[in-house]
Amino acid sequence: MNFNIITIFPEMFTALASGITGRAQKKDLISVKCWDLREFSDSKHRRVDERPYGGGPGMVMTYAPLKKAITAVKQANSTPARVIHLSPQGKSVQQEMLQNLVTDNEVKNLIFLSGRYEGIDERLIAEEVDEEWSIGDYIISGGELAAMVVIDAITRLLPGALGDPESSQQDSFSSAGLLDYPHYTRPEDINNLAVPEILLSGDHASIARWRLKQSLGRTWLRRPDLLAQKNLTNEEERILEEFIAEIN
Ligand SMILES: C[S@@+](CC[C@H](N)C(=O)[O-])C[C@H]1O[C@@H](n2cnc3c(N)ncnc32)[C@H](O)[C@@H]1O
Repeated sequence: MNFNIITIFPEMFTALASGITGRAQKKDLISVKCWDLREFSDSKHRRVDERPYGGGPGMVMTYAPLKKAITAVKQANSTPARVIHLSPQGKSVQQEMLQNLVTDNEVKNLIFLSGRYEGIDERLIAEEVDEEWSIGDYIISGGELAAMVVIDAITRLLPGALGDPESSQQDSFSSAGLLDYPHYTRPEDINNLAVPEILLSGDHASIARWRLKQSLGRTWLRRPDLLAQKNLTNEEERILEEFIAEIN
């Protein structure tokens, strides 16, 4: 997957050299290329913003440099690129939507527009943007962090990106549509809080059942909205009832 980011702060993306995204770049599973928007400005001072028509606070990112930058990125890619504007007004990014994206063979190049100030001239969005994505109902200062969040989330789903491919399948919101079960590691006892005995039993079938029970139970407690979207099997219903009986 090739990630192209149009931004006035390309240096922020050095953060993606660490961890999973860093390793994925070394393994050529992803490429991350930043395009400095100021290099596409015709103005003497490399300006990319102007005051808003109609007055009011803040500045607005202008059409021309963004248009030029998008054209340059598209020309540099041999296969079609999807243009995504990171915006609090976009559709909320969900795990399922990212899973569908990575299995879509048509999608190999993504262009992320990182907004700043009050945002981008609406006519650029109307003409050039294919999708608008939000990372949540809150406002951050620019689209760069949002782009990094979704680049990381997409990378985790690419085959070969994680040490153990099962990790991403058991993550919250993944194939089962549930929250992940609780995790424990050494030591066995911390301030009289012991590791659940079953996890020390070596009985893999019972451990899997216990984990499913915890996942179902946690989702019921913390995110009933996720359970409401899911058709539980009879066995899952039984296991969830057990969980509820145990905590009462
Ligand atoms: C200060 S915000 C502008 C917010 C805009 N005035 C509004 O209220 O919709 C600057 C930029 O940060 C990015 N941004 C802010 N919050 C975001 C979110 N929740 N998801 C994705 N991008 C976001 C967008 O690129 C946006 O153009």
